[in-house]
Amino acid sequence: MLSDAEVGGTPVYAGQMVYVAIAAAHFDEAAYPRPEVFDLGRQSGHLGFGLGPHYCVGAPLARIEVRAALDALLDWFPRIRLARPVEFRYGARGFVQHGTQELPVLLS
Ligand code: HEM
Repeated sequence: MLSDAEVGGTPVYAGQMVYVAIAAAHFDEAAYPRPEVFDLGRQSGHLGFGLGPHYCVGAPLARIEVRAALDALLDWFPRIRLARPVEFRYGARGFVQHGTQELPVLLS
């Protein structure tokens, strides 16, 4: 039996289709204060690899790959740094992808 509900103050009517965008969760100010700020010190966790029974089985491999890539990049360009502060915006790269359009860096 379907029934109307309310999620975060928004009415969801029985039978209505809902698209759940994981990326949007990262822009929930209640969970991630100042979400558009690139802050490596955040302690609030993330949903980048999903959650629950379908949590990404490749997450450990992905972490190893990213660490290896960043290690190699830092070996080649030890002075690499952001050219300017970066802002992350929901929808910057479409409905599902989010982040930033570009990431300008200085190599030396
Ligand atoms: C940065 C890299 C990656 C990201 C951001 C990512 C993200 C995700 C997310 C969000 C899900 C959950 C999807 C859902 O709930 O429907 C997922 C599932 C999955 N990922 Fe990844 N993934 C990455 C790398 C990988 C790699 C390297 C592999 C395999 C070698 C992999 C294999 C899978 C598989 C098989 C599932 C489905 C798990 C299931 O349904 O039980 N992923 N991934």
